[in-house]
Amino acid sequence: MRARTARTQAVAVLTAVLGRHKSLADVLAPALAAIDDPREKSLAQELVYGVMRWLQRLQSILDQLVDKPIKPKDVELRAQLLTGLYQVFYTRIPAHAVVSATVDLVRQAGRSWAAGFANGVLRGALRNKDALQRQANQVPWVRVSHPEWLLQAISQDWPDCTEAMTAANNARAPMCLRVNLLRASVDEYGRLLQQHGIGYRRVVSQPGGLVLDRPVESAGLPGYREGLVSIQDNAAQRAAPLLDVHASMQVLDACAAPGGKSAHLLELCPQLERLVMIDHSAARMKTLQQNLRRLGLMDLGCRLEFVVMDALHSQARFNAASFDRILLDAPCSATGVIRRHPDIKFLRRQADIAKLAATQQALLEQLWPLLKPGGRLLYTTCSVLKQENDCQIEEFLVRHTDAQSIEPDVDWGIATSHGRQCLPGVQSAYGLQAEADEQVDGFYYACLQRRI
Ligand SMILES: C[S@@+](CC[C@H](N)C(=O)[O-])C[C@H]1O[C@@H](n2cnc3c(N)ncnc32)[C@H](O)[C@@H]1O
Repeated sequence: MRARTARTQAVAVLTAVLGRHKSLADVLAPALAAIDDPREKSLAQELVYGVMRWLQRLQSILDQLVDKPIKPKDVELRAQLLTGLYQVFYTRIPAHAVVSATVDLVRQAGRSWAAGFANGVLRGALRNKDALQRQANQVPWVRVSHPEWLLQAISQDWPDCTEAMTAANNARAPMCLRVNLLRASVDEYGRLLQQHGIGYRRVVSQPGGLVLDRPVESAGLPGYREGLVSIQDNAAQRAAPLLDVHASMQVLDACAAPGGKSAHLLELCPQLERLVMIDHSAARMKTLQQNLRRLGLMDLGCRLEFVVMDALHSQARFNAASFDRILLDAPCSATGVIRRHPDIKFLRRQADIAKLAATQQALLEQLWPLLKPGGRLLYTTCSVLKQENDCQIEEFLVRHTDAQSIEPDVDWGIATSHGRQCLPGVQSAYGLQAEADEQVDGFYYACLQRRI
């Protein structure tokens, strides 16, 4: 059996993503769990995220260094070389250590025939670093390490922000927390962080929001198991308050798991009459229930319903006009959260966008009749693409004369025709101080009111 070091585990994860199109969310945690040494664990994580962030650029450099492309069946070798090149171009690991570790990896994987080849590729990279970088910078999508279609889509929708957004997509995301204000004040929780030597700052736009100076594992967060806090990006924390929930309301969260926003709704208004949470994934629904239990939100007196079903069939299950509020946190391209999930740049295909937009439209159509006249539906995505966001709402409003969009009364994000858009890294283009302070993910919000 091969030793489970940082590099072997990183290569195993990258091979699964590049070769079998697995997501990091599925394969990274078990691979890291197999490493005992904490320093090796964090090196493995650094290598995996680094290669996925810079994949398009590293691949172009690799292409310059080989005479013919590496065969698809040799995806593990490709992952080994990309991991080596990442270390050459983006880390301070000494050159000789990178070369020998990479050659060892290739040998240990039973590819002695390729050891000389790997040695040549890495030595070539080390000899020609500047020229290889210059060459990579010639091609716009290679320069910023995004697939060509995605760079085009971003620059078409946000021409003034493309540079800032792609840079933010390739940067490390901050760890953001939402204090459970039913259990602790932000000051109390802040003191707890201080006692544990964890640096943080408060977030201006969110009453319970904090950003840590450095990420820590959830297990290492004080009060996490006791439900004092949730891990949630600042942009995601901006959603639940827009639903404007009040006591005695009946609320539907149509794509609810793992429950970040359901929990936030309950924390904002524990006196809700009923909260129905739908998700089509039973496993994710289980995680949602665990989260609500951990946060102490199961026994507030609000009737909680956990429904594992396809929300596209909601009308068969719920009566028309039965909810005061509906949250549709729709499945989307996740192009707003690339900095947290850099594998999205590789896994997402251009053709997915139209399919996702069709599903979002079908979900909106299915859920709208369930809303009471005078009620509010909040549509959110973690996408930065207009096709999934403002265009979706524009078309919905044309089809539904009983719907009107209401402008959120907030001072963050970019006001769009029908909602609000947060973009990662945009403060330079729009002068948005809150975004600069909070370094938000990309997120879209539209509030639709049903006319009486
Ligand atoms: C963006 S995530 C929701 C995140 C969640 N609102 C939160 O704040 O934690 C989308 C969720 O929708 C679920 N989903 C996608 N399509 C669905 C459908 N047709 N019916 C029900 N759930 C769906 C996915 O399983 C996923 O858990």
